[in-house]
Amino acid sequence: MEKSLQIRPVNESDVKFLYQLMNCPPVLERLNEVPTTRQDWTDAISEWLKDEDEEDYIVLAGGIRTGWLGINGLLGGDGIAYLKMAAFLPEYQGKGYGTSSIREVLDSLKQRGIEQVFLYTDSDNAPAQACYRKCGFKVVESLTETMSNGKEVDRVKMVSCLK
Ligand SMILES: CC(C)(COP(=O)(O)OP(=O)(O)OC[C@H]1O[C@@H](n2cnc3c(N)ncnc32)[C@H](O)[C@@H]1OP(=O)(O)O)[C@@H](O)C(=O)NCCC(=O)NCCS
Repeated sequence: MEKSLQIRPVNESDVKFLYQLMNCPPVLERLNEVPTTRQDWTDAISEWLKDEDEEDYIVLAGGIRTGWLGINGLLGGDGIAYLKMAAFLPEYQGKGYGTSSIREVLDSLKQRGIEQVFLYTDSDNAPAQACYRKCGFKVVESLTETMSNGKEVDRVKMVSCLK
């Protein structure tokens, strides 16, 4: 990973950043999410910190928060985990931060015995799929899903085999 790029676990000081990121109109629209309050993120972070099934990371560039990566499924005991979220502020997208940080997280999961990582993304989300392909993910399934904003969206399931 680039020298100026850092990943660290989410903590209580990240409420404002996650609130801003996840209410940023282009990110909301791309993720088919609905607006949230600061309290939603205070509550979410406090839940994540207690939940051993989940790990959430903030990606920083030159010390500035740029994005959020979330992993879950860690307690399944089947060697499988899920990349439940990858989202960067628009001004930090397309700079290779997603690829570098996801690779680093996959490396850490591999070292801890995770053999496969799955994710879901929209069929028409070309930048996300390009990033995931560079991290070793391949499409294994197509499906339709009803999203948080009520839209029916064509989606793909992707997997990266770490063995
Ligand atoms: C998806 C996301 C996490 C990827 O992170 P990122 O840092 O922007 O990704 P990277 O810069 O590492 O890689 C993106 C790749 O997509 C390519 N790309 C950009 N626009 C593209 C397009 N319209 N069509 C095809 N590829 C495109 C880039 O060229 C780059 O590949 P390259 O390095 O080989 O040139 C980030 O863009 C993001 O937060 N998007 C909004 C939220 C989102 O869609 N999250 C994913 C939900 S599953």
